[in-house]
Amino acid sequence: MKPDLKVKIAGVEFANPIMTASGCCGYGEELATMFPLSKLGALVTKSITLNPRLGHPPPRTAETTSGMLNAIGLANVGLETFITEKVPFLEKQPTKIIVNVAGSKLSEYVEVCSRLNDIDSIDMIELNISCPNVDEGGMEFGADPVMTEKSLKAVKNVFKRPIIAKLSPNVTSIVEIAKAAEQGGADAFSVINTLLGMAVDAETWQTKITNNKGGLSGPAIKPVALQMVNAVYSNSSLPIIGIGGIRSTEDVIEFLLCGATAVQIGTGLFVEPTLPVKIEKELLQYMKRKKTDSIYDLIGKVRKY
Ligand SMILES: Cc1cc2nc3c(=O)[nH]c(=O)nc-3n(C[C@H](O)[C@H](O)[C@H](O)COP(=O)(O)O)c2cc1C
Repeated sequence: MKPDLKVKIAGVEFANPIMTASGCCGYGEELATMFPLSKLGALVTKSITLNPRLGHPPPRTAETTSGMLNAIGLANVGLETFITEKVPFLEKQPTKIIVNVAGSKLSEYVEVCSRLNDIDSIDMIELNISCPNVDEGGMEFGADPVMTEKSLKAVKNVFKRPIIAKLSPNVTSIVEIAKAAEQGGADAFSVINTLLGMAVDAETWQTKITNNKGGLSGPAIKPVALQMVNAVYSNSSLPIIGIGGIRSTEDVIEFLLCGATAVQIGTGLFVEPTLPVKIEKELLQYMKRKKTDSIYDLIGKVRKY
């Protein structure tokens, strides 16, 4: 019998545990020219904000050792254009659709989530709480447990399907933030967003991206992400989507063993856009070889000393 790749998160069933990560395949149109999106468990969109944003001027990405630094500045088409121009394409795709939502004040998050609630083809929202809160003086929503709980409560009031809280690693205790998100009504967690970093040119003395600091992603962050997934897994019963540096099937298995129910691939898509297809195939081969029938035979099964 073929092993079963299906997983369920907050009542939503996914054909397999492989998703795209926000910001790494726009709204899916380009990726769909490379492989049928039915191969994905879910497509996660770029962060959507209430108004369109151009983001930071270039250069806004830089390659680093085993990673990539980016400060795109949440460039996106904005809610209205997303609904009129992107959703019609997305709702035709034979995969689950998760819309990532960002904002700089709580009222923005609420307005965007409230509008998205009317669109039945959107299966879930992923809340990017790693944005500076303008009202509270620029501190990130997701770095403050009180703001985290408040944000989740507010969006849960207006969006009636499941909400995933995407957690930032740039905090003292990710477990504390996860608990606050759960208290606010989060249905699942995405772990992790990028790590704050900086890149400098030794010849010109110039920082490599215009925002000077940015988010580090790619293989360099995988060990950090695995630890954080496992810490959240050990302290909460909510499902976790593991993110950070995935470039191979082995990477995916490591995230599942540490407690993730599904994973997202971000930077890896820039290097190998068809990576999700390869991983789906190899995951089946791995499960046959290990004689495991279900993804659930792997979740959280890491053997620790
Ligand atoms: C170019 C780029 C843009 C990103 N944009 C977003 C975004 O808009 N919203 C968000 O929540 N995360 C964003 N991320 C973070 C990714 O979704 C992911 O959490 C992170 O890159 C770690 O995964 P990876 O190592 O597989 O890339 C972005 C990452 C990159 C590299």
